[in-house]
Amino acid sequence: MALPKVYFANDHGANELKDVVLAYVKELGYEVEDLGCDGSQSVNYPDYADLMAKKILADKDALGILMCGTGIGISIAANRHKGIRAALCVNEFMAKMTRQHNDANVLVMGGRVVGTDLGKSIAQTFLENDFEGGRHQTRIDMFN
Ligand code: RB5
Repeated sequence: MALPKVYFANDHGANELKDVVLAYVKELGYEVEDLGCDGSQSVNYPDYADLMAKKILADKDALGILMCGTGIGISIAANRHKGIRAALCVNEFMAKMTRQHNDANVLVMGGRVVGTDLGKSIAQTFLENDFEGGRHQTRIDMFN
C-alpha cells in the first residue's frame, strides 16, 4: 500500500520540533507538505489548525502532524472540525493506540513538551500503525 501524504502545520511554539520531525518523516519515504508557519513571527495557532483540517478533509488518505507550544491549543482548535480526530501524544504508546483505536488522522505534539528525538519516534509510531476497525469504528461513528 502506498504511504500516506503527511501534512505539517505549527505555530511559533514548535518551529524546531516541526523542522526536525518533518525532515525525519521525509527521510522515512513519506511525501510531506509544510503548511507553515515558517518560524519568522508570532502567529495564531487556530489558523494553522484550520489549514490542516482543510487539507485532511479534502484528502481522506492523508495524515497530519500539528504542533504548538503545548500541543493543547492547536488540538482543541483542530477537533472543532467534524471529521478531524486530532490526538495530542506525549509518548509512543499513545501514538500507537490512537491510530489503532481512535483512527486519529492528525497527530499533535507540543514543541515545548517533547524533545526532538522523542518527537521523531512518536511521529514514526503514529505513521506506522493502522486503525483496527470493528468495535472501534462503532465508537467513532458515535461522534462523527
Ligand atoms: C503560544 O505562545 C502558545 O500559547 C501556543 O503555542 C500553545 O502552547 C497553545 O496552546
